[in-house]
Parts: sequence; structure tokens; C-alpha cells
Amino acid sequence: MSKIGIFYGPQLGSVEKVAHVIESKFGADKVELIAVKNISETELNRFDKVIFGMSTIGKTNWDSDYKDTDWDVFATLIEKANWDDKKVAMYCLGDHVQYPQHFVDALGWVYERLKNTSAEVVGFCSTEGYVYEESEGLKDGHFLGLPVDEDNEADKTAVRVENWINRLVNEFGY
Ligand SMILES: Cc1cc2nc3c(=O)[nH]c(=O)nc-3n(C[C@H](O)[C@H](O)[C@H](O)COP(=O)(O)O)c2cc1C
Repeated sequence: MSKIGIFYGPQLGSVEKVAHVIESKFGADKVELIAVKNISETELNRFDKVIFGMSTIGKTNWDSDYKDTDWDVFATLIEKANWDDKKVAMYCLGDHVQYPQHFVDALGWVYERLKNTSAEVVGFCSTEGYVYEESEGLKDGHFLGLPVDEDNEADKTAVRVENWINRLVNEFGY
């Protein structure tokens, strides 16, 4: 069974913390964690099941907020890489109290880059149990990946991740 690649960024904060939660749920021998900041196309090609981990950072001017971040650089790679026969799921950190109108918007930002590739995006998530006003991370009434709010609901992270992975295992055909 091929390993799952968890491509995450930024490093050292909540995104990385949740990458380790996911790692422990799957089992360390089943996944490989790679910071998007250091990723190369060759590395991308090693995996056919990939999880993207990201955070949402501001929305006064979306494009300028995402410039010079780890994900800004990786976005270029997403668009030019070969995603044939690959499945991608996403999780996204956000803060529903400070940013209720832009909750986990980054899911939408990354999905925009993925949707024109041949990648199959899986791991959509019900909005049940989440409090927010608006989000660009929604499609057809579902979040495009797993929202996680470590700033206000850290106590819910383990269960949220566990439930998500239980579904993801099937969708990944793992
Ligand atoms: C400047 C700034 C802007 C943010 N903007 C948003 C936002 O628009 N939507 C949201 O859901 N969370 C927003 N957040 C919350 C972060 O996504 C959240 O704190 C996340 O856990 C940070 O992950 P990290 O520690 O890995 O960087 C923002 C945080 C900061 C510091």
C-alpha cells in the first residue's frame, strides 16, 4: 500500500500540529509529512493519495495576503503538476470567532487551483457542528475539506479528524 503524502504549510503552528494528529490516526508508517515550502515536483509524483494542510490568513486583499507564503509558491506547482490518477483531500485551519465571514476561505483558494487539474478532490465535509457566517471554502453546501479551529475549538479537533479520516479511508480506497 502506497503511503499518503501530507503536504502542509506553514510550519510550526496549528497546521503542523494537525498534520501530526492526522499522522497518528493513520499510523506513522502509513503517511509522510512534507512541508510545502520544500516540496519539489518529483516529490509530488511519489504519491497518489495526498492530503493538503493549510491555514487561512486574512481577506482584506486576498491575493496580497497570500503572496510570499509557502502556499503561494506551491500553488504554481499545483497547476503545472500531473495529477492523473491522484486523489487529494484538504484540511484547513481557521478561526470562526475572529473571522466568521471568511471562515476557512483558503479551502476555496486552493480548490480554485486544483479544480482545473486532473486531480480527484475528496474529503468534503458536512457543515454540521460549525458556526460561521460565510466561507469561500464551500461547494454545494459542503466544506471542500475538513475545517479545524484550534484557536477556539481545540477540544473538537481529535474527533473531527477521526470522523473525517474514517470517511477518507473509503474515499481514498485505502
Ligand atoms: C492575520 C491573520 C488573519 C487570519 N485570517 C483568517 C481568515 O480570514 N479566516 C479564518 O478562518 N481564519 C483566519 N485566521 C486564523 C488562522 O487561520 C488560524 O489562527 C490558524 O490556526 C493559523 O494556523 P497556523 O498556526 O498554522 O499558522 C487568521 C489569522 C491571522 C493571524
